[in-house]
Parts: sequence; structure tokens; C-alpha cells
Amino acid sequence: MRKFWWIELVTAALFGSYHTDAQNIEGRKWWKEAIVYQIYPRSFKDQDGDGIGDLKGIISKLDYIQSLGVNVVWLNPVYSSPNDDNGYDVSDYRDIMKDFGTMADFDSLLSGMHRRGIRLVMDLVVNHSSDEHEWFRQSRSSRTNPYREYYHWWNAENGKPPYRYSLFDVNHDAWRYDSLTNAYYLHYFSRKQPDLNWENPKLRQEVYDLMKFWADKGIDGFRLDAFQFAAKDTTWPQFPAGFEKDFSRYYAMQGNLHGYLQQMYQEVFSKYDLMTVAEGAGNSFEDAHNLVDSNRHELDMAYAFEGVDLAGPEGYSVRQFKEVFSRWDSAFAHSGWLSIFLANHDQARMVSRFGNDSPAFRAVSSEMLTTFIMTMRGTPYYYNGDELGMTDIRFHDISDYRDVSALNEYEHARRTGADLKAFLDRLAITSRDNGRTPFQWDRSANGGFTSGRPWIKVNPNYTTINEAAEESDPSSVLNYFRKAVRLRKEHLALVYGTYALLDRDNPDVYAYTRELDGQKFMILLNFRSRPASCHLDAGLAHAKLLLDNYPGPARGVVLRPYEAAVYQL
Ligand code: GLC
Repeated sequence: MRKFWWIELVTAALFGSYHTDAQNIEGRKWWKEAIVYQIYPRSFKDQDGDGIGDLKGIISKLDYIQSLGVNVVWLNPVYSSPNDDNGYDVSDYRDIMKDFGTMADFDSLLSGMHRRGIRLVMDLVVNHSSDEHEWFRQSRSSRTNPYREYYHWWNAENGKPPYRYSLFDVNHDAWRYDSLTNAYYLHYFSRKQPDLNWENPKLRQEVYDLMKFWADKGIDGFRLDAFQFAAKDTTWPQFPAGFEKDFSRYYAMQGNLHGYLQQMYQEVFSKYDLMTVAEGAGNSFEDAHNLVDSNRHELDMAYAFEGVDLAGPEGYSVRQFKEVFSRWDSAFAHSGWLSIFLANHDQARMVSRFGNDSPAFRAVSSEMLTTFIMTMRGTPYYYNGDELGMTDIRFHDISDYRDVSALNEYEHARRTGADLKAFLDRLAITSRDNGRTPFQWDRSANGGFTSGRPWIKVNPNYTTINEAAEESDPSSVLNYFRKAVRLRKEHLALVYGTYALLDRDNPDVYAYTRELDGQKFMILLNFRSRPASCHLDAGLAHAKLLLDNYPGPARGVVLRPYEAAVYQL
């Protein structure tokens, strides 16, 4: 019997069933039909007043999450951690971070989600652990300790190890000297995040065991953090000077990575009904397919960065945006499956990067981007707060930042005599902390996030942009999000249907169709703050308008600023 038959029943009762003959669809999977809502627990809701979000806080908002219509939650790491990188430095994979609560809280969270027809995907951080993990304590204690081979060490009598770039280190040096055993250990991220040695079968078995620990609790999936970097060439070749500008070419998909994933599949994934996704999809379509094509028995869906990376501090080209998403869609039209997203906890806010966060256009442009995410082929991943149209905070003072990468990069800039004003101006736009300010629940102090002092400043625009205000406004970004989610859930064509780009060279409007079993939808999105038209071969005279982010009649091929319209043809 399917484990989640009852979730499907509840979901069908809540949202109605699909308007198509679902029997004809090949390769139907619940995770393809999922709508993932990503929760950053540190910033979602604080229940105990210590200024840090917690599991009880999430529990108190489960009805809200259910009201969104989403059916999967991806939770950023909640394991024990000294929090050098907000939980991405795990010191005990089988326990809950004190700031977040207890295992009993976790169990209630999981059952509360399942009761509401929502599945839970956990973040699995096993490219590295914390330096405070017992494995690392043992590993560094002596060269002969049984845990030595759980990490990568280079003995100092052999000279300096070949340069490896670190993303978060103050000196960008991924080898950290440890005098205790006169050796260097490898850390692609911060010094407190030593990389695990996947070549060691014992380490791999430990990881499979801890994955089973969570799967046996009944969780529904794993997002594998930074896993494309997990395998290394441990002959440690010299990389060409300047390789760090394109480090992913040298770090991603190395060694026996696919072998490890196939083993993980055998040991874990094949035994449970899990949704699996790794952060990053290598450097080519071939890499991405090798991760997710179902005949290979590795992962379920690719999470590629080319789309989300398009928006730089100077903006992005709409033509290029269309080209990238169309190219990825066509590369996955016949096998494999994609994730569709424009934001996560490592990015500034979606509306600030891809839309327009000025008061005049914040709401409509958020809604337009939401329409895009909910009408593409691939599983939508939606970051908490974007359903309110939350915006970047843009800190200008380094003391406001909390992110290890921002703080260490600033220190690097200071030490190397860089222009700090220019550095801070850029950081204000690009920082991950923009996406990590607390969720804005209402207009009370701290946006209703905490009764204490928040661990990071709340965006002062919480007095107008908040859940309570949007709840009572039928035309809010929040209520539009719910409509868009409902629309996707009502039409399997929006999940599985073929995608075709229209009016390709239009520099302002993104127009496409989705089609399945004779059901055809047309999506028109104006990415500009001025009216724009599109050129379509077929007219819209007989089309039925299903969704529009403007009141009043749609004007067909002439779109208002950031207008989004979904038609059934
Ligand atoms: C991933 C996470 C990011 C974290 C890094 C190191 O990129 O998404 O938040 O800092 O891995 O774990």
C-alpha cells in the first residue's frame, strides 16, 4: 500500500482533483507534483523569546503553512551545531540544535506536518561536518586515531599542500594548519567546516546510518548540501593559477561521486519513499543527467544554478533569462527532472533581484515571478517570505551582518587593502543576509517574529509588508500566491505538460505554452515596469483567463507593468 495514500485523499479533498486523465502520464511521482516551501528555521518564528526561530515556532504556524497549499517543506539544518554557518556545521547529526528545541519538538513538527498532508525534506550536510563533531575531535587528536581518515589531512613534513580555494576562509585558503599533529586539514567552506573523506567506506557507512535514522522517523526526503563537492581527487594535483574564478569546474563532480550516490541509493533511498535532490548539478547537462536520470539510481531531481545566478548586482537580461530556462527545459524534456526556483537562503530576496521592490511595483512583480515559478515544468521551490513579497534589507554597516561568508569576506577585503566602501555597497545588494531577515508576521514589535531581541535585524518595512495585513487583503501578494499554487495543483498540464517558448526575441515579455492531453495553457509575463506587448500567432479571443495579477479585464497581448496572465486555450 502506498505510504501516503491518505495525504493524496486529503489533498484531493482540499484542492480538488486534476482535470485530466492522470492514467496516461508516464513516470508520475509525488515529488514531481510537489510544491516545496523552504523554511529557514532561524528566521521563521521564535516561540521562546530568545530572538532565534525554533521548532515550536514552526509548529505554531503549521496552519498557515497548510493554508498556502504547499505540500512539501524543505527545512534548513536543525541538527546540533555551534552555528558558525547557521547550522551548516553539524556537531551531532542525531540531535536537535539547542536554539531550535528538542527531538520531542521535532517529532511533533513531523507529525503535525503529516497530519496536514505536508511532507518534510531535511537538509543533509555531509560534504563537511563541524570541527566540533566528535569525529573531528578524534580525527585531529593523533595521526593514528581510527577517525583520522574521516577527514582529509596533509602532513606538514611534505611541505605545503597544493593550493585549494576556500569559499568562506578569511584567507581563501582551504588548508588549515593544525599544530597538534603538524598537519593541514581541508575545508572548502569555513575553518570550522572540515571536509569529510568520502573515500573512506567507514565514513560512508556512518552517513548512510544517520540517514536511515531520520528516514526511520518518517521524514520524506533529503536535500544534499554541497554534495557535488563531496568527492575529491586525493592525489591532490596542482590546479592552474586562477582556478578559483571557476572553482566549480575543479571541485564539482570529481572522483567517484556517482559511485557514492549509487551506493547511497542502494543503502538508503531504495528502502524508503524519499524525495532526493542535491544542491548544484555540476557543470553541464551531462553532469545533471548523470545525477538524476532514473535508470542510474542516484537522485530524483536536479537543482541547477544557472537560472538563479543570472541576476547580478547590475540586473539581468530578460532574453537571457528566457534562453536559460528554455534550454534547461528542453534538455530535460525526455528524461530527468528539474527544480524551478529563483531564491533560497543563499540569495538576496527574489523580488529585489528578479523583480522590482519599489513600492509601486513590489507586489505585481512578486506575483509575476510567482506565476513563472508555478507554471514551469519542474518542481517549484519557493522560499519563505517570498509569498509576502519580502524585500532585501540592504545593510550598510558590517556590524549588522551575521553571515560567516560576509564577515570573513569583509575581513579579507580589509586585510588586502580593498576599497571597503565599494565592497559594502556590493554586499548590501548581494548578501545572503538579505534573504535571512526574520519573517514578517504582523505589525507588532519585530514583525511578530520574536518577543526578544532578534538575532538579525528585522526589515523595517514589516509595518506594511506582513502576513496579517496581507491575509486580510484579497488582492495581496500572499493571496495571489495561494491562487497560483491552487492553479498548479488543479492542472497536471502545468506539472507534466510540454513547454514551448513563444515570441522568443521579445526583450520584455516571457510567453510560453504548456500542453498535455489536449489541454493547453498560455502564460504571458511582462518583466518590465512599463507596458509591453507580445506577438502571438494565435489570438486570445477564445482563451479563458485563469489568473491575472491586475484587477479589471486583461488586455490580451498588451501587458501592464509586470503583468502576469495565465490563459487556457
Ligand atoms: C550550501 C548551503 C549554504 C552553506 C554551504 C556550506 O551552499 O546552502 O548555506 O553555507 O552549503 O554548508
